[in-house]
Amino acid sequence: MRVVLGIETSCDETAAAVVLDGRQVLSNIIVSQIAAHRPYGGVVPEIASRRHLETVADVAARAVAVLPDSFRSVDAIAVTYGPGLVGALLVGLSYAKALALTLGVPLLGVHHIEGHLFSTVFEYGDWDYPALGLIVSGGHTDLFYIPAPLTYERLGRTRDDAAGEAYDKTARRLGLGYPGGPILDRLAQTGQPDRAPLVYRPPLIPEAPYDFSFSGLKTAVLRYIREHAVTLLPEGLSQEEVLARAPEAIRDLAAGFQHAVVTTLVGVLERAIQAYRPRLVVTGGGVVCNAGLRQALNKLSQQYGIEIRIPHPTYTTDNAAMIAAVGYTRLMQGERHDWSLEPVPSARLGAPLTAGGMEHN
Ligand code: KG4
Ligand code: ZN
Repeated sequence: MRVVLGIETSCDETAAAVVLDGRQVLSNIIVSQIAAHRPYGGVVPEIASRRHLETVADVAARAVAVLPDSFRSVDAIAVTYGPGLVGALLVGLSYAKALALTLGVPLLGVHHIEGHLFSTVFEYGDWDYPALGLIVSGGHTDLFYIPAPLTYERLGRTRDDAAGEAYDKTARRLGLGYPGGPILDRLAQTGQPDRAPLVYRPPLIPEAPYDFSFSGLKTAVLRYIREHAVTLLPEGLSQEEVLARAPEAIRDLAAGFQHAVVTTLVGVLERAIQAYRPRLVVTGGGVVCNAGLRQALNKLSQQYGIEIRIPHPTYTTDNAAMIAAVGYTRLMQGERHDWSLEPVPSARLGAPLTAGGMEHN
């Protein structure tokens, strides 16, 4: 039995978790900084680093409190080394290194996106291969081909905004606050997408058929607001107030926007399913909480008779249990990192790490 402590500080969540044998989550502590960043309408890197610094030791101590002998019961430490905000990553990584050195246990640097790909293992267990992996979050929209364990080929990525970023930016334009995904999702469920069809076609780039693009959608929303003289709500309302007071035009616009995002995501995934014939699709990232996307993925799963795994909402957003799960699997492969491991803000999954955490792309 192996006890892995996971640490995650790549963006705006300070997280630590204890996972037994890569599957059984014994504790999963997440301290969100959303409230600190909300006044700025997005994540402020300086604030994020400072908050991680203030919080990480306490969050880790709370995570290991479930163990019989606290930190001394930990067999290995897994920590996100990238991608993410460099200052934020550095806090988690420095803390993890110091802890691993003190306890005399192995250190494993984990790629954040590989973590998201692992976020369904707690409920559904091991994967069947070949698999496809779709990650849709605030910072990433990536599609992977996974022919065998721990082997990733990135088929496509977003060419501009990530899907969650498109939600956040659109919500900001509509005065709906930050983060934008949850409120736009709820509003969309009360509107009619065909009453606000957004004039937007995701470009199909022949040499990159699995790439995504969402920035055109932002412009389409702005155009719609202007052309239909949509009255916006005053800023600073709570989600419940927005839901109660939003006029029909805003609800329809939210539904039209959601329809366009979901159609883009599912369209690309469907193309890859047809080409790669996977035995399984795993998904992850904050946007897979989205009700419209979940529905569309379930439909696609039935249509092709392929299992599409969607993580429990606890594990869709950033957490350290998913980092510990990857760490355990890699530990069992005999991997570990030395103290020269450094943050890699734009780490690419699938690229091998060399000493010092530098990568070949
Ligand atoms: O995975 P995550 O916590 O952060 C990154 O690693 O980037 O995802 C956060 C993103 C935000 O952009 C948020 O607006 C979006 O996920 N999000 C949603 C929903 N819930 C969160 N987007 C659409 N619909 C939702 N229900
Ligand atoms: Zn993430």
